[in-house]
Amino acid sequence: MARVRKSDGRDMSITHISVLKDEAISALSVEAGKKYIDATVGAGGHAAEIVKRGGLVLGIDQDDNALHLAKERLTKEEATGHWQLVHGNFRNIAAIALEQGFTGIDGILFDLGVSSMQLDAPDRGISYRFTDAPLDVRMDTSGGDTAAQLVNRSTESELYDIFSNFGEEQLARPIAHALVRARSVSPISTVGDVVKVITDLVPNEIERYGVLSRVFQGLRIAVNDELGSLKEGLEGAKKVLAPGGKLVVISFHSLEDRIVKLFMKKGGWQILTNHPIRPTEEEAGTNKRSRSAKLRVAIKM
Ligand SMILES: C[S@@+](CC[C@H](N)C(=O)[O-])C[C@H]1O[C@@H](n2cnc3c(N)ncnc32)[C@H](O)[C@@H]1O
Repeated sequence: MARVRKSDGRDMSITHISVLKDEAISALSVEAGKKYIDATVGAGGHAAEIVKRGGLVLGIDQDDNALHLAKERLTKEEATGHWQLVHGNFRNIAAIALEQGFTGIDGILFDLGVSSMQLDAPDRGISYRFTDAPLDVRMDTSGGDTAAQLVNRSTESELYDIFSNFGEEQLARPIAHALVRARSVSPISTVGDVVKVITDLVPNEIERYGVLSRVFQGLRIAVNDELGSLKEGLEGAKKVLAPGGKLVVISFHSLEDRIVKLFMKKGGWQILTNHPIRPTEEEAGTNKRSRSAKLRVAIKM
């Protein structure tokens, strides 16, 4: 297992299992000497497969830790292909590609959401499991507001919108109300502060885990502006793909999938997946995270 050191000295390992890997690589029709952008390079699982087949890869990620892991993996696994990595948000994919002189792209992959390393990091606040963690939730820790800032600053109605629209949580209203009450006593600063508010509202443990995962999904989408980035990223991808180039997107929840589906239907694409490709029973059995995945493919006209 590849290991790298984080700046604070802790070990970081690649624990992420790439989802729909064979399906994504085959959908990209990877060929030696052709150019691919992995817009969410993560730990480089998909990118390494492209490089092994002789593809030229521009990998983008907004998380510096991910780029360290991808670099280590690609350095080891490089075969005949070439790769370069850039820290950035894929909403700027067109500008990044241009800056890198990477034009005439044959395929672009978006493997959306967070990696297992991000979810399992005890200090990033992305998962509700680590109650001592600061309520950060950013994928790009180099800037932008943390979830704590968002929760302490937003009105009750804005918080309701976050939990309802992005978390699709039925208890969004009482949760927003309880958070506003709690922060009037002392500011919300840790994951545990949110967990406590929700534990008081939802005493049943099993029910509570569902609520917590939806609330943290809502916070994550809001803090990282995931849906706004996706919309802009898809438009940017269309600009830099060569005619005949493939767009491949793996999404993990209905909010993302709807954006991808509508974007491809808007025109300028030959859609190859009227029904999205789903993981096999075997993949879903061995990699729990893959269960909600949907892969859509389109060719730029
Ligand atoms: C599911 S992981 C990708 C895993 C990768 N395909 C692999 O096989 O190792 C998603 C990655 O996308 C990154 N990401 C999410 N949204 C992003 C955005 N708007 N811009 C750049 N990177 C993003 C996350 O930081 C994370 O590392």
